[in-house]
Amino acid sequence: MSKITVIGAGNVGATCANVLVCKQVADEVVLLDIKPGVSEGKAMDIMQTANILGINTILTGTTNDYSKTKDSDVVVITSGIPRKPGMTREELIGVNAKIVKSVIAEVVKASPNAVVICISNPMDTMTYLIHKTSGLPKNRIIGMGGALDSARFKFNLRLALNANAGEVDGFVIGGHNDKTMIPMTRYAVWRGVPVTNFLSKEQLDKIAADTKVGGATLTGLLGTSAWYAPGAAAAQVCEAVLHDEKKLIPCSALVEGEYGFSDLCIGVPCILGNGGIEKIVEIELNDEEKALFAASAAAAKKTNEALADALK
Ligand code: APR
Repeated sequence: MSKITVIGAGNVGATCANVLVCKQVADEVVLLDIKPGVSEGKAMDIMQTANILGINTILTGTTNDYSKTKDSDVVVITSGIPRKPGMTREELIGVNAKIVKSVIAEVVKASPNAVVICISNPMDTMTYLIHKTSGLPKNRIIGMGGALDSARFKFNLRLALNANAGEVDGFVIGGHNDKTMIPMTRYAVWRGVPVTNFLSKEQLDKIAADTKVGGATLTGLLGTSAWYAPGAAAAQVCEAVLHDEKKLIPCSALVEGEYGFSDLCIGVPCILGNGGIEKIVEIELNDEEKALFAASAAAAKKTNEALADALK
C-alpha cells in the first residue's frame, strides 16, 4: 500500500490532494490540518467525486492527528501562511519557520522513512530549515519551487510559440524568488529545436521576466498566492518519487559543492525517484548564467540568516 500525506489543507494542500486522488498516484492519501474540520471536510468533498471520476484512491482528513499519517512514503508540507499582494515570499519567514519546524518534527516521528517535499514559502529557506532540523538524509528533502517555476516558464513559452501543451520544454534554476530565479531560455526547446530559432531576444527576455514575477502576478489578481499550479507541481514531484520515475525536474536541493556552492538549498536540475533526489545534474552554465546563479545563491544564503531564531 502506497501512502502520501499532505500537511496543510488550505488552497495548495487541498489542490495537491485533489490532483493526487484524480491521478490515483497512491493507494492512500491523508490530508492533515491544524484547523478543526477543514481537512475532514475537504477530503470528504474530494472523495464524493470518486464515483463520478472512477477513482479508487482513498483520501481521508485529520485534524492534527499524526498517527493517521504513520508510515507515509511521501509527505508534502504546505502548512504556513501565503503571501498577500505586494509581499515578498521572504516576508513570511518568521511565521512559517515556526510552523514548518513544529510540523517536520511530527512528520519524522510518524514517517521516519518518508521523502519530504516542501512547498511552504520562502520555499528554499524552509527546505534548508528542514535539512537543519529534521535529521533526514539530504536526498529525502525536496523543495518544490523549480517544478512550479518551470511549469510557468513552459506556459509562457507555449503562448508565445502558439504551441501545443507538452511540445515545449524548458527549466528554471536558482532561487524560488521573483528577483533571483533563472529561466534558462538558452536551453528551452520546441520539439527539440531551440526556441531561439522562433523567438527574438526581446520576446525571450519578456518571457523570462513574466516567469520571474509569475507568482506575484497571480497574487495581485487573486489577493492571495496561487494554488492550482503549485498543487499540481507538488503532485508531479510526489509521482516522480513514488513511482520511481527518474524524472529530471528542477527542485530546491541541498548543494554540497555542486555549481560551486555549499550549505544552502537552491533550485538545480534533479533526478527524482524512490530515493528522492537521486542525483543533482550539473549542466554547463555560460558566464552570464554563472553570475546569475552566484547572485541567487548569495541571496538564498542571506535569507537563511533569518532562520537564526528558528535554529536555536
Ligand atoms: N499544522 C498543520 N496545518 C497548519 C499549521 C500547522 N502547524 N499551521 C497552518 N496550517 C494550515 C492552515 O490552517 C491552512 O489551512 O496551513 C494551511 C495553509 O493554507 P492557505 O492559508 O490556504 O495557504 P496556501 O495558499 O495553501 O499556501 C500554503 O504554500 O505556496 C505556499 O506561500 C504559500 O507558504 C504558503 C503555503
